[in-house]
Amino acid sequence: MARQRTPEDLTITPRDRRFGRGARQERWWMDGNPVATAFYNALSATFPKGEAFFVESVRRFRDGTPPKLDAEIKAFVTQEVMHSREHVQFNKRAIEAGYDLTPLEDRVEWRLSITRAKPPIVSLAATMCLEHFTAILAHQLLKNPRHLDAADPESAAMWRWHAIEEIEHKGVAYDTWLHATRALSRRKRWKIKTKVMLFVTRNFIVDRSIGTLTLLRQDGIIGPKAWARMLWFTWVRPGMLRKIFGAWLAFFLPGFHPWNHDDRALIEVAERRLATAPLPA
Ligand SMILES: [Fe+2]
Ligand SMILES: [Fe+2]
Repeated sequence: MARQRTPEDLTITPRDRRFGRGARQERWWMDGNPVATAFYNALSATFPKGEAFFVESVRRFRDGTPPKLDAEIKAFVTQEVMHSREHVQFNKRAIEAGYDLTPLEDRVEWRLSITRAKPPIVSLAATMCLEHFTAILAHQLLKNPRHLDAADPESAAMWRWHAIEEIEHKGVAYDTWLHATRALSRRKRWKIKTKVMLFVTRNFIVDRSIGTLTLLRQDGIIGPKAWARMLWFTWVRPGMLRKIFGAWLAFFLPGFHPWNHDDRALIEVAERRLATAPLPA
């Protein structure tokens, strides 16, 4: 029988770590590969604004939550604020390496402004869906260390640190959503979350693809060649989007909860790895 709720013994621990201060980063920090670099840079460009949006969306529904969830929201906020801080630094290094992230950031701002204009529950639903996305990406990143093995070690450590905490707090937005919509029927909830997830997924794929292509263009990789290399990277090898497809689909099952799949073992392994990672400069 599925658990359908966050484990009682889960503790969400903000790990205040800093990465890559004062260090110069290779333009193609990811395996000397412009496509892999563009994919991760495009993702990182969205985090500072995106995670600030997650925080504001969840916080708005904090009042009246049970004490355990209330404490988890607090830890979630602390974690996300630190993620934003480290991605601002990471993005700075990408800018120093010659990339212009402005068009990517502008697109995030535009998307968020549309959602912000709607009732707050829509922002919470979008956050709950995007947090599932980040949790399954994080799971994949930690499950297959090869994704980051050829990356610049300091950047790999930063992405692994972020992934650990995304797994750890994966139930928070979902539980806040369950609490905020407790008066709705299961059917109504399912209809809303399905609609929002399909919408968010479409936007996520379209926007990250545009972002990746925009950065590739700055490397002089354009046209069908850029498309082909991006699609190969995301869907075939290593095929991150293909690999998370099953976990994405699970979201639509009746009785879904992010903790139906307890993947805390990945956190332990990744933490040991992180402990031996190079110290920040
Ligand atoms: Fe985060
Ligand atoms: Fe998160």
